[in-house]
Amino acid sequence: MNKKRVAVLISGRGSNMMALIEAAKAKDYPAEIVLVLSNRPDAAGLTRAQDAGIATVAIDHRPFGEDREAFEHALDDELRRHRVDLVCLAGFMRLLTSWFIGRWRGRLLNIHPALLPQFKGLHTHRRALEGGAKRHGATVHFVVEESDSGPIIRQESVPVLDDDTEETLAARVLSIEHRIYPEALRMVAEGHARFAPGT
Ligand code: GRF
Repeated sequence: MNKKRVAVLISGRGSNMMALIEAAKAKDYPAEIVLVLSNRPDAAGLTRAQDAGIATVAIDHRPFGEDREAFEHALDDELRRHRVDLVCLAGFMRLLTSWFIGRWRGRLLNIHPALLPQFKGLHTHRRALEGGAKRHGATVHFVVEESDSGPIIRQESVPVLDDDTEETLAARVLSIEHRIYPEALRMVAEGHARFAPGT
């Protein structure tokens, strides 16, 4: 099988990254994780990836200051050096420029902890609770210039319970994130989900 070569971009603990690494161990999975890249050299996920035998690179965004594109050129160089076909953002806390997004269009996925188009941006669980949502969830989508807005690949919901706190709700959502991200990556790697602008 000609597996797609995937890089996972992280900034933190990397639990979604680990879910992708675990899924990709299956013989019939159509993608392999060839690189984990972090903009934070101290991201806990880097150690977890190394322990799993995956190549890791840290590119600290701070020395690049305001020059987002220069940082992204460094990212892009690493992705090309590792002959990456698809990029999965998994808790990657940097906004990307239209240069990078254009370069990877249709090959760049993100997971967002809400039922998009509801609750774009940060603190989604708190906002779902404050807004009295009855259901909440997670979405995997292609990345476009507008944040948290690209075509949806996979989405699943969970109930919001009366006694939920931000933490209990986050944990319930996270458990479905770990299932739908590998499913969505499979769909893209097999060509069953394709980027079509405006969908
Ligand atoms: C997840 O909730 C993901 O949806 C969001 O950031 C969080 C990352 O968690 N984009 P982890 O690093 O994958 O554990």
